[in-house]
Amino acid sequence: MDAPASASPTVAGNDNNTSNGHNSTTEANGNIANNESVKHEDAPSDSKTLSILPQNIHQTGLPRAVVYEILNQCYTRTVLPRANKLRDYKPFSNMVYGELMPSFLTQVYRDCGLNKEKSFIDLGSGVGNCTIQAALEFGCESYGVELAKNASILADAQLEEFQKRCALLGLKLPKIKLFGQQSFVDNPAVQEVVTNADVLLINNYLFDASLNLKIVELIQDLKPGSKIISLKPVVPPSYDLAWDPLSILARLDEKKYIYRENSVSWTSNGGYYYISEVKEEFCDRYTTSNPRHSRTRRSAANDLQSDGDSTREHTPSMNAFTNNF
Ligand SMILES: C[S@@+](CC[C@H](N)C(=O)[O-])C[C@H]1O[C@@H](n2cnc3c(N)ncnc32)[C@H](O)[C@@H]1O
Repeated sequence: MDAPASASPTVAGNDNNTSNGHNSTTEANGNIANNESVKHEDAPSDSKTLSILPQNIHQTGLPRAVVYEILNQCYTRTVLPRANKLRDYKPFSNMVYGELMPSFLTQVYRDCGLNKEKSFIDLGSGVGNCTIQAALEFGCESYGVELAKNASILADAQLEEFQKRCALLGLKLPKIKLFGQQSFVDNPAVQEVVTNADVLLINNYLFDASLNLKIVELIQDLKPGSKIISLKPVVPPSYDLAWDPLSILARLDEKKYIYRENSVSWTSNGGYYYISEVKEEFCDRYTTSNPRHSRTRRSAANDLQSDGDSTREHTPSMNAFTNNF
């Protein structure tokens, strides 16, 4: 991940693509038909214009191509001309910039059950793409937190453009808030939003172990049923109940998935992502007949490798968060 897609040739190949993959006519994943509508069980059958039920985009059956076109126009107008500013980060640091593509986001948001009743937050929200897409496509209250100055400035510009365009189209948006130039660490306002969130996105592809541990503290009070989308595991493979049985890690049911080619800006290859659901109780993999018996990390690692769960097959030693292909 060394450059935003907007500056990277790795997403080339689709003639119709804008360089960040925001594209209304060609889907990078190939799994969503070009003119497919965003269909919902409760969509009114008499939808005629975009302004029908404007207070609730989720019920309008807004065509997916229109969703992507709006996102594409906002990105192209506000971010693309200044995308070089997103390269201003220290290599191999937490601040490395990269983006998730709209079609990939559609899929994971849908898989996490995002809808107008839910609250979404992107921890490390960059230029705000993921935050505004969640609001536009799923009608949910949507937040983002970004520390980097340049990305935050572009995010504000993009959000303003987005809100103007939606107003012109008669689309009333849910609450959207970007915490710009702020860390999500030790931030009470962000903590409150996180604790109430139903779906969290953490593009922690290059977050270091210490920031990942801060994230574990931040998500400690998530409610059961909340879901976390991440690019690297939130639960370190070496985690065991003996670490801290009260940690939310003990109640995170983390599953590993494969994303297809052209889903992320930093490579055109596929890779892995994770969805973790907060459970009421300890996850099965952490319980024994007597949970108070502490187990060694080696036995936990053996369990993880032999329990048939493919999400646990790699256990690198240096950094628990480094197992993409
Ligand atoms: C890989 S980018 C993800 C951008 C966007 N979420 C996406 O997936 O398209 C990760 C972002 O996290 C931001 N970041 C890193 N540490 C942070 C922190 N402590 N608080 C807020 N943002 C942070 C970086 O500046 C960077 O913009």
